[in-house]
Amino acid sequence: MTSIPQTQTAWVATTRGPPSKVLQVNQDYPVPTPTKSGDVLVKIHAAALNPAGWKIMTIAPNFVWERPYIPEVDVSGVVVDANESQFSNGDQVVGLISTAVQRSTHQGALSQYVFLPASQLVLKPSNQSFSSAAGIPTVGQTALQALRTTPKTIFVNGGSTSVGIYTIQIAKSMGLRVVASASGRNEAFVRGLGADEFIDYTTEPPHVYLTRNSPTPLFSLVLDAAALIDPSLYRHSEGFIDKSGMFISVGPWPFGRGWKAGLLGTMKYLWAVLQPGWAGGVKRSWKMITVTRRQADLQKLCEMVEAGTVRPVTDSTYDFNDVLDAYNQLMGGHVVGKVVVNVIPERGGQEGEGG
Ligand SMILES: NC(=O)c1ccc[n+]([C@@H]2O[C@H](COP(=O)([O-])OP(=O)(O)OC[C@H]3O[C@@H](n4cnc5c(N)ncnc54)[C@H](OP(=O)(O)O)[C@@H]3O)[C@@H](O)[C@H]2O)c1
Repeated sequence: MTSIPQTQTAWVATTRGPPSKVLQVNQDYPVPTPTKSGDVLVKIHAAALNPAGWKIMTIAPNFVWERPYIPEVDVSGVVVDANESQFSNGDQVVGLISTAVQRSTHQGALSQYVFLPASQLVLKPSNQSFSSAAGIPTVGQTALQALRTTPKTIFVNGGSTSVGIYTIQIAKSMGLRVVASASGRNEAFVRGLGADEFIDYTTEPPHVYLTRNSPTPLFSLVLDAAALIDPSLYRHSEGFIDKSGMFISVGPWPFGRGWKAGLLGTMKYLWAVLQPGWAGGVKRSWKMITVTRRQADLQKLCEMVEAGTVRPVTDSTYDFNDVLDAYNQLMGGHVVGKVVVNVIPERGGQEGEGG
């Protein structure tokens, strides 16, 4: 069995603020000890960043998200203490640290070791490196769960977002017709994922395009994977969503233009989605989704990846020392695929194997 050190190197968010101001390396951070049987200790090989990671770090007050804590939740690695779970030491796994575990234990993916309930882990697809597999859990499950509404045709607003990348591929595997938006430079990429029709959102707002070119049949689902705070897409959706269809947002994001503009934007958005149809509101269902950690969903995704039905896409990889550069890349807002931190350096395109 691999010897487990008492301390590790971890990136720790010490107070509220952006990564460049509040993230610090701690080379003497305790390696967590599983407290109950079934909690599995994983030696992390790669961690994938999510926009939620820097948003929580920057916005969430201490009483909501206690500091210090280790950010990020998507990991791949090797089991080093299976602790009476269904896993064995040496298993290569991928997992998602739940909000509950992160908040109660202050653990996160930007460290060398993490323990998490076996129910938050599955075996890594054998055809993926640790690096690409780390990016599967959050965005893959979000896409899979959005598609549980069993649509027939779908518009993915933000086809080059990581959520959009999975949504298009899974939707195509379900036989759906897919229309997707992105900026023109990503057209070939988005079509390559399987999109049947493409809208360049930099040329014309998608709601304008879709109102003029009303789809036949109308969409049964519009997924706003770009998390727009501008409600125009929903406001005009009667022109392109079927009466029984649905608009799903991954969570409209109000910040970035200052608090006042953010607050105003939120109020406008809330009014657009809450105003009842009989009072002039939009007569289409709206809901916001938050990813639910389900082992069965993660298992299904990994099987789809293993079968080649779904291809994980990595925008860029960074060394463990370069976490701040990785955040800069993600926060630029134009990544295509996951930004991944290799906690253990890749060797010849594949991270070092074993525990
Ligand atoms: N609800 C949940 O549980 C959940 C789960 C995961 C993610 N999210 C949220 O979902 C959003 C997307 O996350 P992600 O990780 O998929 O994002 P991401 O990969 O970081 O998204 C980057 C992409 O967004 C595209 N984009 C930016 N503005 C756009 C617009 N107006 N229209 C269309 N595309 C646009 C960019 O394309 P261009 O360079 O071409 O502009 C870029 O390719 C974030 O707000 C995240 O917090 C929510």
